[in-house]
Amino acid sequence: MAMKGLLLSGGSGTRLRPLTHSGPKQLIPVANKPVLIYALEDLRKAGITEVGVILGLNGREQVMDRIGDGSAYGVNVSYIDQGAPLGIAHAVACAEDFLADDPFVVYLGDNILRYGIAPLVAEYNKGQCDAVIALQRVSDPERYGVAEVDERGRLIKLVEKPKKPKSDLALVGVYLFTTPIFNAIRQIEPSRRNELEITDAIQRLIDTRYFVKHHVIQGWWKDTGMPEDILEVNRLLLDDLVPLVQGTVEEGAILKGRVSIGKESVLKHGCTVFGPTIIGENCTIDAGTYIGPYTSIGDNTHVSEAHIEDSIVIGESVITCRETIVESLIGDKTQIRSTDQKLPKGHRLIVGSGSSIDL
Ligand code: TTP
Repeated sequence: MAMKGLLLSGGSGTRLRPLTHSGPKQLIPVANKPVLIYALEDLRKAGITEVGVILGLNGREQVMDRIGDGSAYGVNVSYIDQGAPLGIAHAVACAEDFLADDPFVVYLGDNILRYGIAPLVAEYNKGQCDAVIALQRVSDPERYGVAEVDERGRLIKLVEKPKKPKSDLALVGVYLFTTPIFNAIRQIEPSRRNELEITDAIQRLIDTRYFVKHHVIQGWWKDTGMPEDILEVNRLLLDDLVPLVQGTVEEGAILKGRVSIGKESVLKHGCTVFGPTIIGENCTIDAGTYIGPYTSIGDNTHVSEAHIEDSIVIGESVITCRETIVESLIGDKTQIRSTDQKLPKGHRLIVGSGSSIDL
């Protein structure tokens, strides 16, 4: 039986507004690549080539445009509509026909793991289990789904965001299931937040004597639900950046550390770029500009005279201001300019609903 993948790209992404007004959070780029694409690549690296992608109500077309039939990523993609985000277990139930009798990996499309999912699949391949969950030790377990393991190392309980966690083992957003999960999902009720919770379905498997193994992952893992998580993932990924200069670096432009520059981009005389930093394609970085460290600038962006540090500029933007921008997440097609206007004095903002600005 070939193993399949189920990539979840539904959900509402309310905690990432206003960025999620214009597209799903899974397409927000970190180190210039959407979170969802890292997940798709991880599935492929684990040998999974049949992938179902769950679509929600927000940004269906953008996800389909980006992934297409999957061939660009070496996989064969089928799309499955979930509609309203009624929970992760609900998304899995929506894919029952696609998944059929095959074992499958569920990958939450906003999660990112440094070392991917191959170890999870290897754990399953050792045999004799009905599911494998991934865990990681964390210092703030009350923020996560938490696993209780008995003295023999067997998983006994999963609790969603416990006030008094019984362990520091958080549930990571990748799961390996076999067919009994579908019955377990049919037996659970919606939670207080009116979602069919995957933790309840896994608990149901444990309670009905199915064998759920767990695997404690190595390396970092992040859920990109909040802006600060996205910036943190950006830093972690840039720590592994392999420098590659494909654009033009004019004489007198200063490059320090590991810097990647995409095709058709120009770093003008008199600018400074401090790595780790990635600059996409067709960008212009003018004299007097200072970028980095830990910064990702998306394609078709023009930066002039600004100092941008520890930030993500998604792309298609013009930033021509004599200001310092730090720890910022700047949506696409944004303009940030300096003004010569003397009066009235003050910042002039045209900002969408749900934005957050610290002045
Ligand atoms: P969450 O972060 O739990 O939910 P959300 O995307 O609705 O975000 P927010 O809480 O900010 O409103 O979702 C985890 C992942 O699972 C994410 O990639 C979206 C996906 N998902 C679905 O595909 N369907 C669902 O019904 C839910 C709840 C989530």
